[in-house]
Parts: sequence; C-alpha cells; structure tokens
Amino acid sequence: MAYNTLEVTKDGKVCIIKLARPKALNALSNELTMELASALEKLDKDDNVHCVILTGSEKAFAAGADIKELQDGTFLSMYDHDVFALYWESVARFRKPILAAVAGYALGGGCEIAMMCDFIIAADNAKFGQPEINLGVMPGAGGTQRLTKAVGKAKAMDMCLSGRMMNAEEAERAGLVSQIVPLDELMETALTTAKKIAHQSLPITMMTKEAVNTSFETSLSQGIRFERRLFQAMFSTEDQKEGMAAFAEKRTPHFKNK
Ligand code: CAA
Repeated sequence: MAYNTLEVTKDGKVCIIKLARPKALNALSNELTMELASALEKLDKDDNVHCVILTGSEKAFAAGADIKELQDGTFLSMYDHDVFALYWESVARFRKPILAAVAGYALGGGCEIAMMCDFIIAADNAKFGQPEINLGVMPGAGGTQRLTKAVGKAKAMDMCLSGRMMNAEEAERAGLVSQIVPLDELMETALTTAKKIAHQSLPITMMTKEAVNTSFETSLSQGIRFERRLFQAMFSTEDQKEGMAAFAEKRTPHFKNK
C-alpha cells in the first residue's frame, strides 16, 4: 500500500518504516500518525513480518508534533480527537519487536515516538529533546513518563523544564539509547540487529518484549511472577524444544514460530 508520509519497505522478515515528510523535518502530522497506525496494524497481522525498524531521515527522525496543526487547538478539540491515544500509541501497542533507528533530531513527539519503540539505536548526530516548554506546553505523548523511566528524574526534569537537547553520547550514558553508531552505519546496524531478532521465534520474542514492558507497569514481585509464568508457558512451544535440541546437537535452530 502507498502512503503519502511514509516509505514502507521489506527486507526478508524485517519491515522498515521511514517517516517521510522531509520538508517539515518529519513533523508528526495527523496524516502521518494515522498512516503510521494503519501500517502497524497491517504489520501486526502479517505473519511474514517479525520485526520493524522505525526511522527518519539523516537530518531528523522527527522534529515533534506538527506545531502548525496544533496551534489553533482548543481543550475540547484536543480532548475530542485524542490523537495521541488513537494513533500515536499504536507504536507502544505494537506487539512485535520494533526498534527506532534515530539520526538527527528526535524532538518532542519525535523523542516520544522513539521511546515507544522497544529500543533506540542512535546515529552519532542524533539529538534528543522535549522542547515543548518553549511552545508554552509540555510533552503530551508520554515524554514526562517514558523519559523519566529511561533517564531518571534529574535529566528528565532538566530536559522537560529547560528544553535542552541531549546529544547521542549523553543519551547513551543516560540509558536512553542502546548503542551509538556512525551516521553512515545506522541503517546497516539497525538492519543487522532487526534480522537477528526476526530470525528468532516470533511468539518468544513477543512474549519477551511483553515481559520487559511489564516491568514498567507493576511491582517487582508481580513482574517476576509474570516472567516466570511466561517462561513456563514457553515450554509448551515447539520452538523451545527446537532451540534447546539445536544447542545440544551443536547446530543452528530452525524455529517454526509455534
Ligand atoms: N512542526 C511543524 N513544522 C516543523 C516542525 C514541527 N515540529 N519542526 C520543523 N518544522 C518545519 C519548519 O517550520 C520549517 O518549515 P518551513 O521551511 O516551511 O519554514 C522546516 O520544518 C525546517 O525547519 P527549520 O527551518 O526550523 O530547520 P532548522 O534546521 O533551522 O531547525 C529544529 C531544526 C531545531 C528541529 C527546529 O525546526 C525546531 O525547533 N522545530 C520544532 C521542535 C519542537 O518544538 N518540537 C516539539 C513539537 S510539540 C510536540 O511534539 C508535543 C508533543 O509532546 C506531542
């Protein structure tokens, strides 16, 4: 399917979604986020897709919500349309592994969408920020919550209150990104990583993601019980038998996603 604001390509079991509004630095318009939600809904049902990479351009992953669309909003229009819950959160709701490959600006909603992904690989020119304070608002798509959980109170408060950006090195030190690579190696690294994930058993990667995400929503003892139950459930899959047999037989496992 063709989109106006996205370029969607496949490489084996990996799907790459490129945000493509270059003239607006990939500002997250309603059209873009609706298309993103629709693309993810299709990929969720596509058995041939095991992992997704969300990326932007070399200059901008995304420079935030589309300010020109937002500027005339009222409380009631924002409340009524509730686009963050409807469309944006489709990234956080996506059940298969999804990673963000971030180059350039990931600001405001751009940083928030990147944080909804399972992890972020950053190019060395990446800049993360929640500059909404400069616009007379604050982060509205999870930034005050997800950024705080990712980098802790001090840095989250600093970024949300002062609006300053973090470069890639600071973001890695703070735990916001999993690794930094040179800009010209970003997509290759993201693809290699995504292919590694896509090669695993899909139900097992999905359950693993669910278990890690549960740590943000629950107490330690409940989270550990949830993890244990999923771990036990994995022994009902053929892929657990195959994975362990392959290890014992010193061969590569061939997962059937069952
Ligand atoms: N919304 C709409 N348009 C945007 C945009 C945004 N978030 N960010 C950039 N653009 C547009 C600019 O208006 C400009 O368009 P024109 O050529 O038509 O004037 C084009 O993209 C290029 O931008 P700049 O000329 O500003 O490029 P620059 O290199 O000088 O600066 C930048 C880059 C520092 C990222 C700057 O564009 C900027 O500060 N952008 C806004 C960042 C921001 O405040 N993001 C938060 C948005 S609110 C939000 O996201 C709320 C939420 O929590 C969901």
